[in-house]
Amino acid sequence: MLAEGVALPTGESYEAALKEISQTQTLADLDSLRVHWLGRQGILTSAFKKLGELPPDVRKAEGQTLNDAREALESAIASQKAHLEAQDTKRRLARTAIDVTLPGRDAEIGSYHPLTLVQRTIEDWFSRLGFVVASGPEIEDDFHNFEALNIGRDHPARAMHDTFYVSGNELLRTHTSPVQIRALQQWGPPLRILAPGRVYRRDSDLTHTPMFHQVEGLVVDHDISWAHMKSLLSDFLRVFFDDAPAVRFRPSYFPFTEPSAEVDLACFFCRHQGCRICKNSGWIEVLGCGLVHPVVLQTTGVDSQQWSGFAFGMGIERLAMLKYGIRDIRWFYENDQRFLKPSWMNTMVNTEL
Ligand code: DAH
Repeated sequence: MLAEGVALPTGESYEAALKEISQTQTLADLDSLRVHWLGRQGILTSAFKKLGELPPDVRKAEGQTLNDAREALESAIASQKAHLEAQDTKRRLARTAIDVTLPGRDAEIGSYHPLTLVQRTIEDWFSRLGFVVASGPEIEDDFHNFEALNIGRDHPARAMHDTFYVSGNELLRTHTSPVQIRALQQWGPPLRILAPGRVYRRDSDLTHTPMFHQVEGLVVDHDISWAHMKSLLSDFLRVFFDDAPAVRFRPSYFPFTEPSAEVDLACFFCRHQGCRICKNSGWIEVLGCGLVHPVVLQTTGVDSQQWSGFAFGMGIERLAMLKYGIRDIRWFYENDQRFLKPSWMNTMVNTEL
C-alpha cells in the first residue's frame, strides 16, 4: 500500500498493474505498461519526483515503499517478458517445424518431348535396316534446296514452298530433301540415309508453323524398285501406328522423283467413315515418296543407268499429332509443361477432334 503523500492518480492501482502485467499477450502491450509506470513520464517516476515535497519524517518510509513497488513492477515485467519471448519462440518453431517422419518428395521423372520421341522412334526403326543418320545445313543455297532437286528457277513447285530468303542465293531450307543431294555428292552410291531436321516455310496456323521438322530418306543402289519402297514404307507405317491402319499409295507429283506418290493412312479418327480431320475422304496423307529422278542422279554425278533409288519425306509434327492425337501444332513449341510428365501420352490425347 502506498502512502497518502504519493497517492497514485485516480483509477491507477499498483496491484492492478501487477495483475495486468501478468496478463499481457504481446511484448508491445507489455512495453506500453512499462512506459506507463516506469517511463520518464511514468506514474511511479512522477511519484518519486514528489518525494522531495514530503516532510522528512515520512519521506524515508515513503521512499522505501516506492522502491519496493518499482522492484516488484520491474521484476514482474522482466518475468512476463521472458514468458512472452519464450512463447513467441515456441510459436515460430511450430510454424517452421519440419516433420522428419513425413515421406520425402520424390524427384519428378521427366519424359521425352513428343517430337524427340517420334524422331528417335523413326531413327531407331530405319537404323536397324542399315540406314545412316545424316544431316545438312539449315541455311541452304538455291542449288541444293531447289536446282539440284530438279526445281529450276521458273518451276511452279517453287511457289509451293513459301521460302524465307537470307540473301539472293541463300535461304532457310524448305525441306530436308537437299540432304539427298549433299549425301550423293559426298558419298555417292550405294547408300541408305535418313536425315531428320528443321525446315522453314512462311506458313502459320493450327497445323502449320514457320519452323517444323521433317525426316528425309534416300536409298540408292543397284536394281532398286518401287516394290522395295512400297514394302519398306508400308511396314514402317504399320509399326509406327501400332493399330495397323490400311495404307494407300496415291499417284502424285514431286519434281525430284518419278514416278511419285503420296501415302495415305485410313483415317483412324473416324474409322475410314469421313470426318473433319480427313476432310471427309476417309484417308490421311502422311508422307511423300518416289523413285529418284534420273536428273537428280546425273546432277550429282551418279550414273543413272547403273544406279536407281527411292526417296521419301515426312513431317515429324504431323506424325506426332496423328499418333498421339495432339490437336494444335503450336503446343509443341510453347513449353507446354504437360509434355514434361511421363503421362503426357494419356493426357494430351484428344478425344474431341
Ligand atoms: N520434300 C517434300 C516436301 O517437303 C517431301 C518429299 C516428297 C520428300 C517426296 C521426298 C520425296 O524425298 O521423294 O514436301
